[in-house]
Amino acid sequence: MTSASDSLTLVLVGPMAAGKTSVGRRVARRLGVAFIDTDRRIVAAHGPIPGIFAEHGEAHFREIERAAVADALAEGGVISLGGGAVTEAATRDLLRHQPVVFLTVSPEAVADRLRGSSRPLLAGEDPVERWKKIFEERRGWYAEVSSATFDTSRRPMQKIADEIVTWRREQR
Ligand code: S3P
Repeated sequence: MTSASDSLTLVLVGPMAAGKTSVGRRVARRLGVAFIDTDRRIVAAHGPIPGIFAEHGEAHFREIERAAVADALAEGGVISLGGGAVTEAATRDLLRHQPVVFLTVSPEAVADRLRGSSRPLLAGEDPVERWKKIFEERRGWYAEVSSATFDTSRRPMQKIADEIVTWRREQR
């Protein structure tokens, strides 16, 4: 008998625009497992993220995010989390004993990726400065929950995905 915990699970964490979705989708394809993006699940069930923040506040978003992470882990596969999922102690607890990869990116590389973004925590002037501040506040949590780090600033997403697949296969 197989269960979700037997399947090849891998979780991607990291700051906003680190490439968690792009890399995650490629890693899942290479491993032949499902890809789950918890933000997408949340949007499908609750509507756009800026609306959730505006109507119900960040604490409510974190609560539904924690539930989405728990559901995703029960299913297994490659799971990309929103950048702030690690701010919740209960969500960090869910990640203990899971293979978690921390994707990093430099402020220089992120500037382009943030253009046109509707992320509520970056709204207002100078999104890159906000992004830097938020990343520094969370860096310790990313490091705490992860067991490998890959930088996505300069190399093609497919190359990074291939390296993660190699790393994950070594973890079995
Ligand atoms: C957030 C990151 C977003 C999304 C929400 C909050 C954060 O996901 O979950 O806007 O607090 O860092 P991405 O990391 O995919 O941008």
